[in-house]
Formats: sequence, structure tokens, C-alpha cells
Amino acid sequence: MATTDTPRTDIAFNQRLRVVFDDLQKAFGDVALRHGITHEELGQAITYVQKLVGSGEFMLATTLLVANRTIEVSYGRAYAHPEKDGASTWMATGPAYVPGAPEIDNPGVLPMAPDEPGGTLFVSGTVRSTSGKPLPGAVIDLWQTTADGRYSGLTPEQAGPLEGLDVVDFDLPKYHLRGKIVTDADGRYEYRTVVPGVEASAVPGSLLDDLLHMLGRANARARHIHAHITHDDHHMLTHQIHFDGDPLVDIVTEGAIARELIHKTELHDDAAAWEARGLTGPYRTLTCDYILRPIGFDEVKDPYVLEGFWKQ
Ligand SMILES: [Fe+2]
Repeated sequence: MATTDTPRTDIAFNQRLRVVFDDLQKAFGDVALRHGITHEELGQAITYVQKLVGSGEFMLATTLLVANRTIEVSYGRAYAHPEKDGASTWMATGPAYVPGAPEIDNPGVLPMAPDEPGGTLFVSGTVRSTSGKPLPGAVIDLWQTTADGRYSGLTPEQAGPLEGLDVVDFDLPKYHLRGKIVTDADGRYEYRTVVPGVEASAVPGSLLDDLLHMLGRANARARHIHAHITHDDHHMLTHQIHFDGDPLVDIVTEGAIARELIHKTELHDDAAAWEARGLTGPYRTLTCDYILRPIGFDEVKDPYVLEGFWKQ
């Protein structure tokens, strides 16, 4: 029988795990100390986590409440710290992405029904490098929900974490409200769509729903339009447009939305304006410039990326 004096040869000491674990352990301890966490409260938290595992909600809960920041600094690492050079803020792709969306014209219209419900919205802007140079030929791969908050194109198997949330419409065409638009010679784009809806985050009455109520957070994701923006010589940006005036941006399930992701819309409600656009009613416009970070920026010298930390 192995004792503490008998070194194990089947498993190696892991310096990186030790460093991260030590830091995590200290962070938990610091929070407990700062807030005077009681024995009873700790017990309640452990019991809650055990119940989450038992009910099968653990993955969804940790993804929504804990993992966002972790995903941001791992998959979105190329866009960490946008304040350095004005690069756009990175957001996770999420489970609703479907590859292979068709290319639409520029200016164009996202694939939708002729009588698609929802407020008409024109989104336009420029894709630029952090140097300020416009980027012609950038591809913006867009996806969003319908006005009633449901995604197209996912099979029941692909719906995965969204299962049971009623945020997928299996009857819609695969690429409904999904499309790629390519920027013009000036790096500009414009497309017409409808204002997206609100997605539920947790099954009503579930343990996660209970926690969200206790936290004063909404069991919903704020209205948003997803995009992957790609261009040669630049890191792919994953992004979500959010909307000014949407009350959910401050109480959304995963925590308040970063201010720089929230965009104003302008309402155009005079008949001359909408008729000039070939529309039969009011519409809104929104401007979103995507700022991409060039490949080859000096990550190692970035003090925030912890020099050498990622190379182990
Ligand atoms: Fe989404």
C-alpha cells in the first residue's frame, strides 16, 4: 500500500495546476473572509451545488454564471483588454451558432419571411483594424433570434444546453436570420433585419431559476445580435450587439452587459423616411463598427496576459 513516503510514478507533479489552484483557493478564502461567510451559509452553498449536479443543471449554471469570464480569457484571449488599443470587446459564441450561413448582398437583408414579425432594423458600420484602417473584404457572420426569441437551424441534438428553454424553433428554415455579409471597398456594411427577441436562460421553476431570483437577475438574455468577424491578418472577433434602452442589460442572467457592447438605435417614424427605404412603416437604425486586432500583436509583452503563463 502506498504511503506518503512512497512517491507515485503514475502521475506527475503539475506546476501549472498548483499555481492556479493555489490562487483559486486564496480567492475563495478572501471572499469568505471579506463577507464573513458563516458555517450555515457555506453548508447551504454546498447543498445547492450538490442539488444542481443532481438535477443536471450544473453545466448550464456554471456556463452562464461562472465560465463567461474564463471563456473570454481563453478562447477570446486575442481580444483581452480592448482598452489598450480600442479593439472591440469579445463575447462568447454560445451554443446557437450554425456554420455555413449563406452570403447576403451588401447592403443586404438577413434571410427572413416576407412578413417577418418584429421591428425593422438597419444595422450598418465599418470594420476597421486597431490602426484605424478600414478593412475591405471582412466577413461578418451574423446570427440572431426571431422577434419572439427563438433560433433557427439547430437540431434537437445540437440544441444541447438550450434544451427545454424554448429558444429554438425547429420549424424555421435552417439559416433563418443567419447570414454572412462582406465589407465593401471602404470596409462598410449594411443589412436589414428585425429587432431580436429575449431568450430564456433557465427552465422556469428550476434550481437555476431560483438562484437567479435570489440574485435579482433576470431569467433571460438581453436582446442581441451575434457575429463572428474575420479578415486576413486579423484575429477573428466574436461579438454581440446589445441595445440601449433594453432593461435587461443590467440584470441579464450572466451579469451586467459591458457598456461598449450596448448600442443606441434611432427611430425613423416619418412616412417619407420609410417610403424612401421601400418600407410600409417605421424602422430603426443602429451603427456598429467592429475593430479587429492584427495578428502578430505582441502578446508576450502584455502584462495582463501574464507573461509566460500561457506557454507552459
Ligand atoms: Fe444568443
